[in-house]
Amino acid sequence: MSIDYSGQIPNNVNLADNRRLRRALEQWQPGFLRWWCELGPHGFQAADVYLRTAISVDAEGWATFGYVKMPDYRWGIFLAEAEPGRTIGFGQHKGEPVWQEVPGEHRGTLRRLIVTQGDTEPASVEQQRHLGATAPSLYDLRNLFQVNVEEARHLWAMVYLLQAYFGRDGREEAEALLERHSGSSDHPRILGAFNEPTPDWLSFFMFTYFTDRDGKYQLASLAESGFDPLARTCRFMLTEEAHHMFVGEMGVARVVARTCELAKKYGIDRVCEYGGIELPIIQRYLNFHYSVSLDLFGSELSTNAANYFSAGLKGRFRETEHPDDHLLTDQTYLLLRADGERLLEGRESALLAINEMLRDEYIRDSARGVARWNKIIRDAGLDFELRLPHRGFNRRIGEFSGLWITPGGEIISEESWRANEGGWLPTSGDREFVKSLMKPAFHPGEFAGWVAPPARGINHQPLDFEYVKM
Ligand SMILES: [Fe+2]
Ligand SMILES: [Fe+2]
Repeated sequence: MSIDYSGQIPNNVNLADNRRLRRALEQWQPGFLRWWCELGPHGFQAADVYLRTAISVDAEGWATFGYVKMPDYRWGIFLAEAEPGRTIGFGQHKGEPVWQEVPGEHRGTLRRLIVTQGDTEPASVEQQRHLGATAPSLYDLRNLFQVNVEEARHLWAMVYLLQAYFGRDGREEAEALLERHSGSSDHPRILGAFNEPTPDWLSFFMFTYFTDRDGKYQLASLAESGFDPLARTCRFMLTEEAHHMFVGEMGVARVVARTCELAKKYGIDRVCEYGGIELPIIQRYLNFHYSVSLDLFGSELSTNAANYFSAGLKGRFRETEHPDDHLLTDQTYLLLRADGERLLEGRESALLAINEMLRDEYIRDSARGVARWNKIIRDAGLDFELRLPHRGFNRRIGEFSGLWITPGGEIISEESWRANEGGWLPTSGDREFVKSLMKPAFHPGEFAGWVAPPARGINHQPLDFEYVKM
């Protein structure tokens, strides 16, 4: 299924024949470009960046690589191919044909789901806009910009749904997506994690590992939706998302590798002296980004999530692979709850626990990368292990939000939690130190001293390839 690049907006949704929608999107486009130039990557809008662009939506060979100035990037609307005869896979409408139009009774809910997802996409571009100036290499700089243009494309993906299926309300929501800004006091982004700054590259790597991974799970559950245009949109977004998580996993792995190298040479306690980031700091950054990302899944028990599921709007991760009735009305799910001052495992209605099921998948997935980082540390012969903190640690949303839980999972008093906080979460000293290392390395093949070079370049190019031409 190829993409039509002949019009103003690349697409595979036949915009050429849908004049009303094409007009609406063309009217939104200048505002989008203004937003990109004002709040997108700062200082590099005129640079030539070696980027990939989607040319088809097939599983293989969907991208082409070439130099492009970011404002000229061909943002477009790409849906995964329709599955003929697809039926709704879960909830009360299970077995019925998927919807090609928005069912009236779910209009408000669907719009909210799409807006909430859509809001995160430009938010992350805004959060990352100052990182270019301190990129540790041209390779990393290019990866940052690839992630940024694709997040902006994800905004297009959601705006398409709003404009195509939600009439006037959708058009207003599309405007509002450009009006809210990450960290703004008047018009903040919808979700907390997307109003936190991404001040340095260690934060960026942690963000793309942990927070983009939340995105993967949200998209995967929307990719099951009975509203077929949403499902197909999210299916294609997932293929792009994989690269973002790769940037995060490899980024952290390279920081860890460099740290280990310095630790072996000079001693595990002298890494910072020699311009590396010591493992305890990496652990604290991990604790922060992981716990903030866990909050994005919402409350452990949620009637909203139950309703989305029953209505066929948002499924579980890989819904079809679950060996059950996909209705969940009589089933229970084992989860951890807070019972006063104790943590207690117990069975609850599976329908109410939909958020927690998704979070459990996420936690298992997150642990896999951490295990690979630990292998680097073990192979270096160092006695240190990175760990995911307890799911109740540093939470603002859900069961554990009022409690003071240690990374090990123990409930303690607020006072002793505060007294130990500096060992668990990045301190201002950590952030200052990491910031002090953030000096640009912009010669082809050059890498900053706190991060190891990657094993290979992008698209079979060598490491000293000029990924960004200033
Ligand atoms: Fe995204
Ligand atoms: Fe992403």
